[in-house]
Amino acid sequence: MTQGGTGAAAEVLISVAQLELRVRELAAEIVDDHRDGNRIPVLVSVLKGSTFFLADLVRALDIDLEVDFMSISSYAATAQQSGVVRIIKDLEGDIAGRDVIVVEDIVDTGLTLTYLRKALTERAPRSLKALGLLDKRARRIVPVPIEYVGFEIPDVFVVGYGMDFMGRYRNIPEILAVRDLPRLANAPDLLVDTVFGAPFPARAGE
Ligand code: IMP
Repeated sequence: MTQGGTGAAAEVLISVAQLELRVRELAAEIVDDHRDGNRIPVLVSVLKGSTFFLADLVRALDIDLEVDFMSISSYAATAQQSGVVRIIKDLEGDIAGRDVIVVEDIVDTGLTLTYLRKALTERAPRSLKALGLLDKRARRIVPVPIEYVGFEIPDVFVVGYGMDFMGRYRNIPEILAVRDLPRLANAPDLLVDTVFGAPFPARAGE
């Protein structure tokens, strides 16, 4: 069922090598924009998905910085349309007067980032920028600025490099596109043999 070829339940969309390269490029862009040593930016990571990316990114940033975390809930499916987003865990630090970069794993409908931008802007930061590792632009419901984009991706469900399906598969090192989401929903173990068992055929040649 998950042995690669046409029957594979998922395929590599973005490889580890591509991620490493893009993280370095994004870091270089951010460093260029935040060279002023008097101002220490705060990277706000949205739990849990973006923490994997954040960990790689901050180690590629050779500037002084701080990180802080937020957790929010956004209701899936039907409620998603109403844009109900709620803060579950707030930042520890005060961002007033600070240069803030919101780090998101994926911007999909744009509802979460829109909410975050508004909520954080109300706290009067000096500047506020967003970084989305993945931009699923075709699914956007609300247009929202993203100052730094890692990869624009098509309308596919992805897992790995922090992104999950029902809390699982975050620790897959690359980003996989799930071919048949309803099939995975019916059988959440579907990817286990493929990615954690024998060598993943789609990784060959990396
Ligand atoms: P938005 O509010 O629709 O832009 O949703 C953003 C959030 O939805 C992301 O931070 C992810 O947690 C989640 N999400 C959207 N698409 C995917 C996906 O393809 N895989 C895993 N999580 C996703």
